[in-house]
Amino acid sequence: MNSRRDRWAELTGGQNGEAYARRFARLAESGHDVHGEAAFCDALLSPAARILDAGCGTGRVAIRLAELGHRCTGVDVDRSMLAVARRDAPTQEWLHGDLAHLDGLGLEPGFDLALAAGNVVPLLAPGTEPAVVRQLAAVLRPGGLLVTGMGLDAEHLPLPEPTVTLREFDQWCAEAGLTLRQRYATWSGDPWRPGGGYAVSVHVRPTA
Ligand SMILES: C[S@@+](CC[C@H](N)C(=O)[O-])C[C@H]1O[C@@H](n2cnc3c(N)ncnc32)[C@H](O)[C@@H]1O
Repeated sequence: MNSRRDRWAELTGGQNGEAYARRFARLAESGHDVHGEAAFCDALLSPAARILDAGCGTGRVAIRLAELGHRCTGVDVDRSMLAVARRDAPTQEWLHGDLAHLDGLGLEPGFDLALAAGNVVPLLAPGTEPAVVRQLAAVLRPGGLLVTGMGLDAEHLPLPEPTVTLREFDQWCAEAGLTLRQRYATWSGDPWRPGGGYAVSVHVRPTA
């Protein structure tokens, strides 16, 4: 297990699962679409695709993707978040683990898509980001997709300042053998414009 604490744990003390779930329940009750990430991924996939929800948290995205017919494995290092996922979807696969050491979880590779939604990349432990991207790339099948959503300014992050630039992120992806396929400004597919505060990126593991 990684000895460096991730930024999410620094922020929450690892006790935020129930509060996080309540926040999204309130948003849903007030009419907000809380399933943008799942709909975005579903549109990229064939039916019954195999998905890794990396930093799945309370499972809000993986549970929706399973409702849409996909086979999801959720991995997270925060036990309070996973406890909510396990309670809400006990038959789904939820694994406790550090994305920087994904290879220690014994996952069968060949995922069609790995998702890191909800600012997972900016919230990783400092310095572990390239290793996490490598680990995610390694479990994708050729042609498989890495889908990420991340804030690039304080307005779009639960942090006082950005921790990752797109230039760095694309570099880590390139080093892991991934190619940028598309980039958007939102999960609804609004066009990406350089300088934007939020980026949804689709990288692909090329076929041989
Ligand atoms: C803001 S939450 C997003 C949760 C979920 N993806 C969503 O969109 O609702 C960020 C999650 O990333 C997880 N995380 C951060 N670093 C991690 C790591 N190294 N390994 C596994 N999970 C990690 C945190 O524990 C937390 O649950």
